[in-house]
Amino acid sequence: MKRILITGGAGYIGSHIVVELLRAGYEVTIVDNFCTSKPSIIDNIKKITQKNFDLIKGDVRDENLLHKVFAKHPYYAVVHLAGYKAVGESVSAPLNYYDNNLISTISLLKAMKHHNCKRLVFSSSATVYGEPAKLPLTEKSPLNPVNPYGRTKLMIEEMLKDLYASDNEWNIASLRYFNPVASHESGLLEEDPLGIPNNLFPILLKVARGHMKELSIFGNDYPTPDGTAKRDYIHVVDLAKGHLAALEKIENMGFAVFNLGTGVSFSVLEVVEEFEKALGRALPKRVVDRRAGDVVEYLACVKKAKEELNFEAKRDLQDMCKNAVR
Ligand code: WQD
Repeated sequence: MKRILITGGAGYIGSHIVVELLRAGYEVTIVDNFCTSKPSIIDNIKKITQKNFDLIKGDVRDENLLHKVFAKHPYYAVVHLAGYKAVGESVSAPLNYYDNNLISTISLLKAMKHHNCKRLVFSSSATVYGEPAKLPLTEKSPLNPVNPYGRTKLMIEEMLKDLYASDNEWNIASLRYFNPVASHESGLLEEDPLGIPNNLFPILLKVARGHMKELSIFGNDYPTPDGTAKRDYIHVVDLAKGHLAALEKIENMGFAVFNLGTGVSFSVLEVVEEFEKALGRALPKRVVDRRAGDVVEYLACVKKAKEELNFEAKRDLQDMCKNAVR
């Protein structure tokens, strides 16, 4: 039985990965400080999988905590998700982002090295690409993040590359997520961020539930067919399966980067239309100014994950909207 240590495993994406790991027969240890996730998620993972796993409540920056964690079990690999991920917040509080995202990663890598655990799957982000010069984005596209959040992800990727160059016993996969949406069909792992959400799908759900008055559409003057911005939305269960695909191939990975997306992009209006179809009614909406920092379109080239990880996303926009609405 291989045991996986997953940091941030109580989060929206992390909990979906834990479910897939348990179903695939891995043992799991979660380290999470619950700064952005609710304790109920732990019971929900147990309800879905009927399996047990270890949970350690704590901060990945705490090196003493990590030594205790690594002393408890040998770990086959680490999946590292713990970190802040709100672009707007990173602009207003960059120090928190550099401290949390970078220091937690450095503490984790030092503990892994000390305990000779040298297999890592890292949660990176398409925001490392910044404003795309050409689409679709391949793993070789230029990297110029335009906000502190994206810069933390790029700095961590550079760290991982240097670590591998210094000791090629390491095997590291850096997965660049595009737009994760929807949730496990049980409805028990729904993305329900504490406070006001930033992302489109959780906001659509809040409007549908009447918790928010209307959807503000951030700009309809983009150079796209219907004027609204386009994104490559990937179902979070497909995203989680992408992590297992990387783990299956981690033994001879070296240092490799993969886009995790669908290879198709949809505009805000296309998403809203699909969402309203799934809902069976129209939602109150209004076009407002563009949101600072938004780009016209993100679209992933997904060839590399298909060829090297034998991974491709299976769920389409209709699945994502039906599932989110369920
Ligand atoms: C999607 C589209 C908005 C809300 C973010 C992070 C990125 C990554 C994924 C971590 C955009 C539009 C949104 C609303 C709207 N997270 N929109 N009204 O910005 O593409 O990416 O999540 O890695 O780092 O930046 O996702 O869901 O915020 O926006 O019109 O109320 O929906 O303009 O075009 P985004 P999003």
